[in-house]
Amino acid sequence: MFFKPNFQPAFHRATVSAIMEEAPDVHTLQLLFETPFEYRAGQFLTLVFEDLLKEDRRSYSFSSAPAVDLVVSITIKRISNGRYSRPLIESLRVGDQLSTTSATGLFILPKRIETFHQYFFFAAGIGITPIFSLLKELLFTHPDVSAVLIYSNSSPLQTVFENEINELQKRFQKRFVVHYLFSNTTQLNNARLSKWLLPQLLERYALGNKKEHLFYVCGPFAYMRMVRYALQELEYDDAQIRKENFDTSRPIHLHKPSDQQPHQVTLNLGTEKHHFESQYPLTILQTAKQLGIPLPYSCETGRCGSCMLRCTKGKVWMSYNEVLTEKDLSEGKVLTCVGYPIGGDIWLEG
Ligand SMILES: Cc1cc2nc3c(=O)[nH]c(=O)nc-3n(C[C@H](O)[C@H](O)[C@H](O)COP(=O)(O)OP(=O)(O)OC[C@H]3O[C@@H](n4cnc5c(N)ncnc54)[C@H](O)[C@@H]3O)c2cc1C
Ligand code: FES
Repeated sequence: MFFKPNFQPAFHRATVSAIMEEAPDVHTLQLLFETPFEYRAGQFLTLVFEDLLKEDRRSYSFSSAPAVDLVVSITIKRISNGRYSRPLIESLRVGDQLSTTSATGLFILPKRIETFHQYFFFAAGIGITPIFSLLKELLFTHPDVSAVLIYSNSSPLQTVFENEINELQKRFQKRFVVHYLFSNTTQLNNARLSKWLLPQLLERYALGNKKEHLFYVCGPFAYMRMVRYALQELEYDDAQIRKENFDTSRPIHLHKPSDQQPHQVTLNLGTEKHHFESQYPLTILQTAKQLGIPLPYSCETGRCGSCMLRCTKGKVWMSYNEVLTEKDLSEGKVLTCVGYPIGGDIWLEG
């Protein structure tokens, strides 16, 4: 293999048991784990690689659903010049082993599913991966809710899971609708999702009260932003829109904390306790990494939620946050990759 998995005991070891080609440059990997591995529909795992001098991580959403699929699977699209997606598509073989963190992520079904009666899923391209997982889990386990999938691709050939989605539509025809959009079509009014098309699709498919609708969005950054703005214009609350961002490469403008003094961090990870000092410009995660404390992380830019801990005492200021909702923040959840203690010492729980 071109890359070297990091097989430290802190990680799970997974053997690739099958590889399926879903579309050009898109493979599903079925994974068998040596140790118990639990996950929820819509979450992701993070593959851990050893580079010459450092460790590299890449996250991949589950395309399987725990209530439906016997084997865990992830689905990967090759990015041209991608350091890891390219060899994962081109060189990985059945029997190869990968190293991964535990499952994580907040792009999951709500605790009380029946609070919402209709679930809308907006997916573009490989953004279908966590949405396919959520859709299966929802349809097979919750007979009282309905689902609508609006799925954008450049062409039918590029459409990942098209056959499986059509099978779901046949099986759950009374409560599941799929609307495909292909940008290579000549019917321009049904080619790309836009702020004009989205309200028309909702008018066509939405049932009941607006408060009973929940939205899941995954695709390129501009697509997700457009869907969010369009839904906000239709007076949907931000709390009704859940987003998963795959692209952590975009630069972001980071602000500085008002308090840049050193503060003590007490970390309770269940079986392990740690105590250390953290000070801007190092984030809590960067300080922990330097000290060899194994905190979870993936994107390191406040966009995936892997590094989330709960602050039970003191205050953590975050320079960026794309994942935690107002409710998460009110429950004390914080992202250590963009977090700094301010105003005094802090306690964090894992
Ligand atoms: C929570 C989460 C879930 C994810 N789930 C999936 C999944 O289910 N399937 C999947 O294929 N990928 C998924 N990704 C993206 C994946 O982690 C990698 O970013 C992707 O495979 C590219 O890695 P690379 O090493 O090949 O590219 P890099 O070597 O890191 O980047 C190569 C070039 O591609 C650009 N780039 C990097 N990532 C992206 C991206 N996602 N979109 C567009 N351009 C990019 C970079 O700017 C750079 O120019 C997910 C990411 C996150 C954060
Ligand atoms: S590691 Fe992704 S949000 Fe912190």
